[in-house]
Amino acid sequence: MIRVRGVSKRFDGRRGSVEALHGIELDVGDGEFLAVLGRSGCGKSTLLRVLAGLLPPSSGEVRIAGEPVREPRRDVAILFQRPALLPWRSALDNVLLPIVVHGRPRPEHRAAARELLREVGLDAPFHTCLPHELSGGMQQRVALCRSLIQRPRVMLMDEPFSALDALTREELCEVLQRVHMEHGATVVLVTHSIEEAVLLADRVAVLSSRPGRVRTVLGIPVPRPRSLGLDTHVAELARSRAELHELLLADKKTEV
Ligand SMILES: Nc1ncnc2c1ncn2[C@@H]1O[C@H](COP(=O)(O)OP(=O)(O)OP(=O)(O)O)[C@@H](O)[C@H]1O
Ligand SMILES: [Mg+2]
Repeated sequence: MIRVRGVSKRFDGRRGSVEALHGIELDVGDGEFLAVLGRSGCGKSTLLRVLAGLLPPSSGEVRIAGEPVREPRRDVAILFQRPALLPWRSALDNVLLPIVVHGRPRPEHRAAARELLREVGLDAPFHTCLPHELSGGMQQRVALCRSLIQRPRVMLMDEPFSALDALTREELCEVLQRVHMEHGATVVLVTHSIEEAVLLADRVAVLSSRPGRVRTVLGIPVPRPRSLGLDTHVAELARSRAELHELLLADKKTEV
């Protein structure tokens, strides 16, 4: 579904030139969940923006469903760290925003939006709330529904839960896992959390720092649904976690 070939990105700024990504090669299969894991500043967000068509690469090419990416696509949803909801629109109307941009929401769109909100754990009384009446975790649930309303083929997420407390984060990881199992979109999740990567991903691409390169791609051979609590696959999950930890630590050693 996603094919990245030789992608490099260099930023030329006032402080000189920074090479954020170098020679990135990645393939993400249809319906696959890929986590991109790396230390702060290694180029994760840059890679995601290139995949989204928000930033042109300096060299190399990204293809989605066989077509070169040159601008944002309608079948690709993006979820950022902040929910970025419109403060004057209710939760339900925020979910419907992508539909409004392209026309008028019909009753079936409203029904689909309500269903999505229920799926992520927001019941009817919350649908008419304005964003400021919702907690941070609830707002991010609304943002997740907004990215799902157009039934995207691909979902690109940049640390979507990192502004939340640990428990809410865990809860939302479980929601995301369920959503992925039900909707089957191809997902690329950028994170610096080993826990999140191990819980959610089929494979984890570990980026090295400055410039970001794909150091390793590690498969997580654990069936879904997975859980951070008691899981029958607790040993496999722990092994993957330890392996990723080693890879990230090794990266630090080479940096010093
Ligand atoms: N618009 C820009 N102009 C100049 N340099 C940039 C720009 N965007 C990113 N960079 C640089 O590119 C490098 C990678 O940044 P990026 O935001 O992709 O890292 P990251 O892995 O997402 O970090 P974090 O985990 O902290 O979010 C950094 O050195 C950063 O300073
Ligand atoms: Mg980032």
